[in-house]
Order: sequence, then structure tokens, then C-alpha cells
Amino acid sequence: MNSEKVSCLNGNCTKGISRRGFVGFLVSAAASISILRPLTAFSKEKWISIGMKDDFTDGGFTVIEKKKLFVFRDVDNFRVMTGKCTHFGCLVERQGDETYLCPCHKAVFDKIGHVTKGPAKKDLVWYNVKVESTGEVFVDIKSAIDPAVE
Ligand code: FES
Repeated sequence: MNSEKVSCLNGNCTKGISRRGFVGFLVSAAASISILRPLTAFSKEKWISIGMKDDFTDGGFTVIEKKKLFVFRDVDNFRVMTGKCTHFGCLVERQGDETYLCPCHKAVFDKIGHVTKGPAKKDLVWYNVKVESTGEVFVDIKSAIDPAVE
């Protein structure tokens, strides 16, 4: 079937796509997007800059309150955990070296972010981190890594 449409006005003719052809094109485009979407949904990364390497205390941790992140630095090794409570998103507070307490509804997480007391039901998430040659530190906030893996 020919889906091209020829329009003529005052002897000048142009070829274009017919309405049926255009609708067919839209249907195929929508089908392609719906097929590809699941593949891209799993491969999404979202790297955000959290600052320069030397902004972070070596051998300690830094809280980025605005982004609700805990950044741990050991020389050039960076590890980042969310500080956003998995209940309703309040910034958790570090209690010594062993626990995190949510000030909102008193959920408690252990030192690697596992829930030890509700109402939160999900653990705090650790993210992939990379340090560029410029010294800028990036965190993939779409990742979720095992806190035991360095
Ligand atoms: S927001 Fe943290 S326990 Fe409710």
C-alpha cells in the first residue's frame, strides 16, 4: 500500500505522507519506545557531583545535609550512603560509630544501614562513587550497592 499523498495546488504538486501513513508511523514509534523502555530503565545512571576530593575529611565522614548523604573517605577511597530515612525521608542522625537514628519517628539503622528498629522497613542505600582525575567526586544516586563491597 502506498501511504504517500500527493497534493496539488495551482499545478504545483508535492508529495507528503497520508494521514493513514502518519498514524501508522506514530503507532510504530510508540511500539518501539515501549519495547526499548524496559532496557533503558535498568541501565539508567544518575551521577551527581558532591564536591572536590579535598572537601571531605580524610579518615572521617561528612554529612551533606542538602543532598542527605553521608560521605566516608579513607585517603582515595570514598563510600557514600544515603542519609534519607526509608520511612518518610527525614535526614537520619549518626549516633557514635554504630547506629543511625531517625529523629522523626525513631527508626534505627545499624552502622551499614540495615534497619534494626521500625517504622522504617527498608535499609539505607549505598551508592557507586567515582573520583575524576580533576578530583571531583561523583555519586550515582540511581545505584544501590552492597555495603560490604568496596
Ligand atoms: S521518617 Fe524516619 S522513621 Fe519516619
